[in-house]
Amino acid sequence: MNGAWGLALDKRGAWPLGMGSASLEAEAVRRNGGDQKWREPGCFTLKKVDAGLVSTPSTAVSVRSERLPSPALRGFAWGVLAYFVAVILWGTLVRATGSGAGCGDHWPLCNGTVIQHSPRTATIIEFTHRLTSAISFFSVVALLIWTFAATVKGHVARVAVMAAVLFTLVEAAIGALLVELGLTAESRSPLRAPYLALHLTNTLLLVAALTMTAHMLGRREGYLRGKIRLAGPWGALAALLAFLIVGVTGSLAALGDTLFPAHSLESALAQDFSTRSAWLLRWRWTHPTLAFLACVFLIWLVVRATKQRTPWDNRGLSVLVLALLAAQYVLGVLDVVWLAPVWLQILHLLGADALWAALVVLAARLTLEPMS
Ligand code: HEM
Repeated sequence: MNGAWGLALDKRGAWPLGMGSASLEAEAVRRNGGDQKWREPGCFTLKKVDAGLVSTPSTAVSVRSERLPSPALRGFAWGVLAYFVAVILWGTLVRATGSGAGCGDHWPLCNGTVIQHSPRTATIIEFTHRLTSAISFFSVVALLIWTFAATVKGHVARVAVMAAVLFTLVEAAIGALLVELGLTAESRSPLRAPYLALHLTNTLLLVAALTMTAHMLGRREGYLRGKIRLAGPWGALAALLAFLIVGVTGSLAALGDTLFPAHSLESALAQDFSTRSAWLLRWRWTHPTLAFLACVFLIWLVVRATKQRTPWDNRGLSVLVLALLAAQYVLGVLDVVWLAPVWLQILHLLGADALWAALVVLAARLTLEPMS
């Protein structure tokens, strides 16, 4: 029997070549009793057919696979984000345990060498941070290569992943400077606070870039530059900026806790309001205060998500943002009352990263709309 190349749909029928993709979609929906799931990308495959029957499924080629990258790539993108968050949390362990000088002032080598003989706990903590950071660099480069190989020109995920690589390089440079300038462990240098603020800002931008990469790779529409409409971006940007400011004041509060640990809640509060205390302690109140003020912006964003019509159902994500926000306040209050034990600092930062990633996706859904 002479075979002919045609388009087959789930072994139920075939179309001749030359049919446009829109008419193919319509035909697919019609043949499947109006079931809209047949409109989804990836349902159409090119197969060798004989008189309308599929004969060789092994030669299947996805016709519209450029619409949605493979689940493997999308999973990898979210996996890289999760891995980066784990590395960031380990970084907090380095700061909170005063292990930043565990490798001396050497960078990237640890104490001038790779193999550590009878290392101290601080060395193990700091060296693990360096190793996992190096792996994170290779993982983001792999994500960049894969994203470029699997997406079409103009895909916004390409821009996002390039930003992620850039922020990873800046993160490594800041980390190296902290070590080279000795801004680690018990250092009370006036340079330490601005460097830490810069570090946290870059960390959050890096998390945002990775989140955007994963989010954009999962979009079925509104992922091509030139086919996206900006819808009221200023409010969403203000909410993200408010979060960044809260995060930076938090990193300064965390530095104050590390350098000037209190032994009771009373002495901690006395430190906060004593004119003889370091400015890091006297300004510590700004963090919870700004956190409560910023919630006005964040709640406004959630309210907007419930009202604005978008191609996505934002209800689940809005509930997640509110739940993470509430958890963040509870953890913050416990942090104050329990004098910021290391595990709670890590949990509070995990909450901040999760809330930030959820906010970034919500803001992207609200402001980067597909053009119809
Ligand atoms: C939107 C809500 C909040 C966000 C996004 C947030 C974020 C952060 C961040 C990013 C840090 C720095 C963590 C680090 O560098 O290791 C931090 C630290 C801290 N935050 Fe918050 N925070 C929030 C609410 C609060 C509240 C309401 C309180 C207190 C009532 C609080 C108390 C603290 C304290 C004591 C620290 C220093 C100890 C630590 O690192 O956990 N936070 N916060």
